[in-house]
Amino acid sequence: MKENDLFEQAMEMANAYRQSLPLLAAIEIGLFDVLRGEPQTPEALGRALSVGPRRLRILLDLLAWHGLVVREKGRYAVAAPWLPLTEPARTDNLQARLAHATSNAKSWFRLADALRADRPAPELPPPARDPELFIRNFHRSLGTRGLEIIRKLIDDISLPPGAKLLDVGGGFGDLCRPFLERDPQATTCLFDSPATTALAEKHIRDLGLGGRLKTIGGDFIADPIPGGFDLIILSSILHIYDETTNLALLRKLGGSAAPSGQILIREIAITDTADGPLSGLEFALNMAVNTAAGDAYPSARVRQWLEQSGWRDVYELDAGDEATYALLGRKAG
Ligand SMILES: C[S@@+](CC[C@H](N)C(=O)[O-])C[C@H]1O[C@@H](n2cnc3c(N)ncnc32)[C@H](O)[C@@H]1O
Repeated sequence: MKENDLFEQAMEMANAYRQSLPLLAAIEIGLFDVLRGEPQTPEALGRALSVGPRRLRILLDLLAWHGLVVREKGRYAVAAPWLPLTEPARTDNLQARLAHATSNAKSWFRLADALRADRPAPELPPPARDPELFIRNFHRSLGTRGLEIIRKLIDDISLPPGAKLLDVGGGFGDLCRPFLERDPQATTCLFDSPATTALAEKHIRDLGLGGRLKTIGGDFIADPIPGGFDLIILSSILHIYDETTNLALLRKLGGSAAPSGQILIREIAITDTADGPLSGLEFALNMAVNTAAGDAYPSARVRQWLEQSGWRDVYELDAGDEATYALLGRKAG
């Protein structure tokens, strides 16, 4: 490659923030939640969003260039194709899907600090506008993605009728929904932090699953976990912790499984030699900047941990997506 092309490549990488940050700022200030109906002036919109009109107008002009909003006679509106995607009543709207990206972008900006201090970037408070909405959006975006993956896998997982499921760090409980839909007698216990389960309750009621999806608020590393479960779901959890913690957790979950109970692990894919895919490499860096000891772990390593911690018959399911993998194991003996 010529020197100029390399400079071009570096400039393109370096300036990618100019595309992502205006969109993430728009999400964070609630632009798409408020800019509905009649086109609005920056002044009126600024009042509704509690932001200054001059800078807002400059942001709106850039978003208009990208086609997310339209401008006519000094008034702005969400562009027609983006209206259904940003509908506030929709649980999988753009605001929910990008909630995770808005908070990650802030820690990635402190990546050099995290490297120098050799610890995660200090956690920032959620945006002041509506911290609860931010957390709900975070879980709804994870849930939407997880639900898609479980729907692809479920036919390969047989469970006894009326199975009892445990979703460890299950967020809002979306991942167990396909199992509850398949078997009307099945039930789930969702174990997550008290802050998360408190918010999950409403989501669960809205889904009409109140009686069949119970929550336990606690710390699954430190606190006891109940037992007798036919399927334990551990999705996007191992990457938060280090090897020692993960081995102890997998052993502990063996104690929570019924005889012949199964464990379903879903994780972010990365090769054994950490040379791809790009999504896995970026994810590992996300864990490096956001957690004390997290990482992306190749499936062969997690399979080894499962076998070391008393699970057997471990095999990989087809997650139908190169960015993620799923392992199913059974409680030994
Ligand atoms: C990355 S999210 C995964 C959510 C869901 N399992 C999924 O795949 O979409 C991690 C979840 O684990 C929870 N969590 C992490 N460590 C925990 C702990 N020690 N005790 C309880 N919950 C924890 C977080 O609150 C969060 O809901």
